[in-house]
Amino acid sequence: MFLFPDSDFPVQRPRRLRLKKPLRDLVRETHLHLEDLVYPIFVQEGEGLKVEVPSMPGIYRFSPDTVVDEVKEVRDLGIRAVILFGIPARKDEVGSDSWSDRGIIQKTLEAIKREVPEMFVITDVCFCEYTSHGHCGVVVGGDVDNDLTLENLKKQVVSHAEHGADMVAPSGMTDGMVKAIRQALDEAGFKNLPIMAYSAKYASAFYGPFRDAAESAPSFGDRRTYQMDPANFREAFKEIYLDLLEGADVVMVKPALAYLDVIKMAKETFPVPVAAYNVSGEYAMIKAAERLGWLDGKRAMVETLYAIKRAGADLILTYFAKEVAKMINDRTVENFF
Ligand code: PBG
Repeated sequence: MFLFPDSDFPVQRPRRLRLKKPLRDLVRETHLHLEDLVYPIFVQEGEGLKVEVPSMPGIYRFSPDTVVDEVKEVRDLGIRAVILFGIPARKDEVGSDSWSDRGIIQKTLEAIKREVPEMFVITDVCFCEYTSHGHCGVVVGGDVDNDLTLENLKKQVVSHAEHGADMVAPSGMTDGMVKAIRQALDEAGFKNLPIMAYSAKYASAFYGPFRDAAESAPSFGDRRTYQMDPANFREAFKEIYLDLLEGADVVMVKPALAYLDVIKMAKETFPVPVAAYNVSGEYAMIKAAERLGWLDGKRAMVETLYAIKRAGADLILTYFAKEVAKMINDRTVENFF
């Protein structure tokens, strides 16, 4: 550790660097940029829809026609990327809408790519929104069958790629999913399509509002046989390492706020971009406390996003993306420092 040559007070006065705002701005170690942000968007089957998610104020479910205006708004704010989550008209045992040519994501990709081709569109690759039981794969004997699920994942990613996805993001914590997806994409001619793997995804209470939004809560049991135990740290190293061996281009830690140690480890250990998912419950907590007048929501948002960057995230998936982008653009974000 570095030791100050003359470490005694009054020679060292750390407050000197904090006394004037221009100097605080000059010496700030972490910055948040529009380029860091990925905005999650929910789409459901239908027309003319814009339905607010009750537990996520300011977040809506769109239909493939209305989502285009939302994506234009996101683009005009300077945000480069969105990630799509689909809610199909009909769910079944295996989630077949997820690989259908007329599936909700496929229709949405076509609409966005037709109207806003410059937007970088990531697709969440999973089954929980598409299955009648709400689990992230094919259920056999009361649990997700890993290897049968891999077969369906291959169909889903190839279909997303064919309909214009710019990157795929498998989120089911299926063993071997990155390898299976890489092979399927390569065989279908998409060798340059990157994979952002939800590598260290914990079994978290903070996904609650998302499951309302995406109607994806499991109808029995929970996700503890595939998502990670929140008490584990070294296991995250293993999951990230395996995903990289299998061909992941970007690795993700999820949720973000309760797992800053994992984000930091990922950034310091592996020479690849690290994504952090600032999840629905992290958003809802701040919005709820703000509504109650219990804290300053904007300050809490800015502090949270900077903390995630400080821990080492290269990109942040966040429902706050539009709100913070406005503040970056009009420079009011600086008022908080
Ligand atoms: C799909 C998926 C989930 C989230 C992203 N992809 C939900 C889950 O695992 O239940 C959660 C995102 C959020 O809470 O914002 N498997």
